[in-house]
Amino acid sequence: MCGIVGYIGSQDACPFLLTGLQRLEYRGYDSAGIATLRPREGIRITKTAGRVVELAAAVKQTNMVGPVGIGHTRWATHGAATRENAHPHMGGNSLLTLAHNGVIENYESLKHALLSKGYAFRSQTDSEVVAHLIADCLKTHTTEFERAPDVQDCIAAVQNAIAQLRGTYGLVILFRDFQDLLIAARCGSPLVVGIGKNEQFVASDSSPLVGFTERIIYLADHQLAVLRPDSIQVLHRDQGRVQPNVQTLSSDSVDVSLEGYAHYMLKEIYEQPQSVRNALRGRLDRDNATAKFGGLNLTPQQLRGVQRIILTGCGTSWHSALVGEYLVEELARIPVEVEYASELRYRNPPVDHDTIVFGITQSGETADTLAALREMKRKGHHTMAICNVIGSSIAQEADGGIYLHAGPEIGVASTKAFTSQLSVLAMLALYFGRLRHLSFEAGLRIIDQLEQLPSMLEETLGCHAAVKEIATRYADATNFLYLGRNYNFPSALEGALKLKEISYIHAEGYPAAEMKHGPIALVDADTPSVFIVPQGTVYDKVLSNLQEVKARGGPVIAIVDHVDPQVTRLADAVITIPKVEDFLQPIIAAIPLQLLAYEIALLRGCDVDKPRNLAKSVTVE
Ligand code: AGP
Repeated sequence: MCGIVGYIGSQDACPFLLTGLQRLEYRGYDSAGIATLRPREGIRITKTAGRVVELAAAVKQTNMVGPVGIGHTRWATHGAATRENAHPHMGGNSLLTLAHNGVIENYESLKHALLSKGYAFRSQTDSEVVAHLIADCLKTHTTEFERAPDVQDCIAAVQNAIAQLRGTYGLVILFRDFQDLLIAARCGSPLVVGIGKNEQFVASDSSPLVGFTERIIYLADHQLAVLRPDSIQVLHRDQGRVQPNVQTLSSDSVDVSLEGYAHYMLKEIYEQPQSVRNALRGRLDRDNATAKFGGLNLTPQQLRGVQRIILTGCGTSWHSALVGEYLVEELARIPVEVEYASELRYRNPPVDHDTIVFGITQSGETADTLAALREMKRKGHHTMAICNVIGSSIAQEADGGIYLHAGPEIGVASTKAFTSQLSVLAMLALYFGRLRHLSFEAGLRIIDQLEQLPSMLEETLGCHAAVKEIATRYADATNFLYLGRNYNFPSALEGALKLKEISYIHAEGYPAAEMKHGPIALVDADTPSVFIVPQGTVYDKVLSNLQEVKARGGPVIAIVDHVDPQVTRLADAVITIPKVEDFLQPIIAAIPLQLLAYEIALLRGCDVDKPRNLAKSVTVE
């Protein structure tokens, strides 16, 4: 939910800190700050409410030089988005400063104890409590030995403080009297360490490290990294010093530029032919009329024994899971349960032993999805991640999985990750189907359809001009309905979510038939209904629902895959997409749904890449 950066080395820290915060801003952007340390001058902090660009302007007015520093861009959890609540926060009497990502659940009791010791708080945040707690541990630790603190005392103070925390944290800590020391600690919120030449980096994910280093270490939970300009030590809470697993920064993290597009969201919508091509690459096995994956980490015999599948995720990834249910149950005839991860982690459902669990996630850091997979793993189930970020927490902790290879998705509203998730789920359904009853010919037909997807998506992008015109007619609406059946019921939910999260218009997705059971009361001349109504097994039924809405004076926007005079007569606006088999319709229909939300949000003056109140990766409960 927040972005953290840190630098220690031979250069000024400020340039990396600001560049890194700009690249992390999609994770949270209601306030930002940096701190640097100059020898004999102590810690200097500049922070602002608002975006990183405002912070950069403020930094220009100050002399934020120094070879070590930290930075933070915030998504508020405790306390409003104000300058006082922005990070970094000071601990003790400016003894140290820190940036924090996560939620400390027992911060109130800790704060109460610190207040009784005379610590003064400037903010409403849980993070400032951690800063004072580390300072208090440092003071206690050195008073005990009646000497000035050294580096080991700083490490011990951090370890003693985090041992008292309950909740999640990614921390980077800078000590006033140690310009050659930076400490990072992780539990539940991601941190990546970058190894440079006489310089070290730390960040919430790998994107700030691009162009600065290629050697990285993904910290694991309960690990603490001690960064010096020329060395890195990794300590584990229980195991002591551990050998870090140094990895190479994946090329997937490289491209974070807009490439001439007005917004990341638009770029990522238009990237979908390529991102779906990347998802399919090397995974369609014509010789055996099936799909193949390198990372399931189960044998075909073990997978053949699977009797039930749970698909879990949040938001758009949960919508992907709903499509996955239709795909796997139709193509593989395996019962599928779809679970909100935030529910699955606590509701303790009875689960048969031959059930495997897939966590679907773009970021690989969504706290609820991570927790749900941990819970299912604890119960002994094989867990898999369908994920876009290599080396992310969920990718690392799952027993196996499938990467999307969609490249960085910067826009907060998920677009290319969604269609890549659906492409992977379609291949997974093919794979499981061919383990069971699906014939060779049927498998080949599915492969033929999947191989057409990138060109079909290219063709679908041609609807943009029509969608843009339709957006001008309905951008002032205050309510929308999205309706579809079968595979396109999840599409309706996803279309509604896209509109909600970037245009702030209230929108509801429903199975089209559900309208009769109450929601049709919402229909009036000011409430457009978007019908996803390509030809297919339930086409006539959806058409009837469309007529029911029209009969009540509701404007209708129809997404169709052929010219039907009846729809042309009934609908107020028609968007035509290419015809594909039912099971691939959600992938194609996603394009007009994404573009409609994008164009309406633009007309309403919304920030489509950084919508209010949201963050790209929800790493807190
Ligand atoms: C989608 O547009 C939203 N930004 C949000 O619902 C997102 O899908 C959800 O937070 C899950 O994120 P994940 O896929 O990274 O786990």
